[in-house]
Amino acid sequence: MQASRATPNEFSRKLFAPLPSRYNLLAYLLSFGQDRRWRHAMLDHVVGSRPRLVLDVACGPGAVTKALTDKTDAHVVGLDLSEDMLREGQRNVTRAHLEGRVSLVLGRGERLPFADHTFDALTFTYLLRYVDDPQATMAELARVVKPGGPIANLEFAVPRRPVTRAAWWFYTRAVLPVAGYVTGGKGWWDVGRFLGPSISQHYKKYSVDWTVNAWEHAGIEHVESRAMSLGGGLVMWGYRAR
Ligand SMILES: C[S@@+](CC[C@H](N)C(=O)[O-])C[C@H]1O[C@@H](n2cnc3c(N)ncnc32)[C@H](O)[C@@H]1O
Repeated sequence: MQASRATPNEFSRKLFAPLPSRYNLLAYLLSFGQDRRWRHAMLDHVVGSRPRLVLDVACGPGAVTKALTDKTDAHVVGLDLSEDMLREGQRNVTRAHLEGRVSLVLGRGERLPFADHTFDALTFTYLLRYVDDPQATMAELARVVKPGGPIANLEFAVPRRPVTRAAWWFYTRAVLPVAGYVTGGKGWWDVGRFLGPSISQHYKKYSVDWTVNAWEHAGIEHVESRAMSLGGGLVMWGYRAR
């Protein structure tokens, strides 16, 4: 699958279209079985503020959205640009009887259909690798959060230590595409082949320090990050400036 021929949004829609029904398995494989731990580490930075209205951007089939309803009393709005993902998300919401707690919205992280300062808190997962301008997208995410509200993110990362990085490289380039193909066929082979290089290229262009700076320029304060699972996962969080 060629990222260069389509816009990032078109590319994402196509990439994720065959995945929703078995997405959670993919997330498990991609995170070395760590996805649940990473997700909870991200949510820990949001739930303490007792938000009443939370936006979960790039919600996919809704694992983070649902975890937010488990850990808070908030109403949660999940937003994603993929109709296929949202359809699966809606099935999961119905299955969990969460229709009164969750609203799913079709939209783009780059241009959110909400007024300034609408949400008490915001989460986003695996988004910035799929946008043209991460700095502008961060400003757009910060725009819709109330002053003082927490913003938290989960993303894959490239381990720093040479030995761990070599093992990560082998896993993402050799194991992941094959594991994807065996568990999900051609669509997962494509995403398995795409992910490792996508993560590497993203961090070559936008280091973790660059990203912290981008958050700060977007008006987010007290930005911190935590590498998890030997550096394969990265949780970042901060608070909308008052
Ligand atoms: C790897 S999935 C993550 C799903 C979910 N957050 C989770 O952790 O299970 C990434 C999601 O980002 C969505 N996405 C990609 N680009 C986006 C954009 N510009 N705006 C909103 N969603 C986007 C994709 O459709 C996909 O559902």
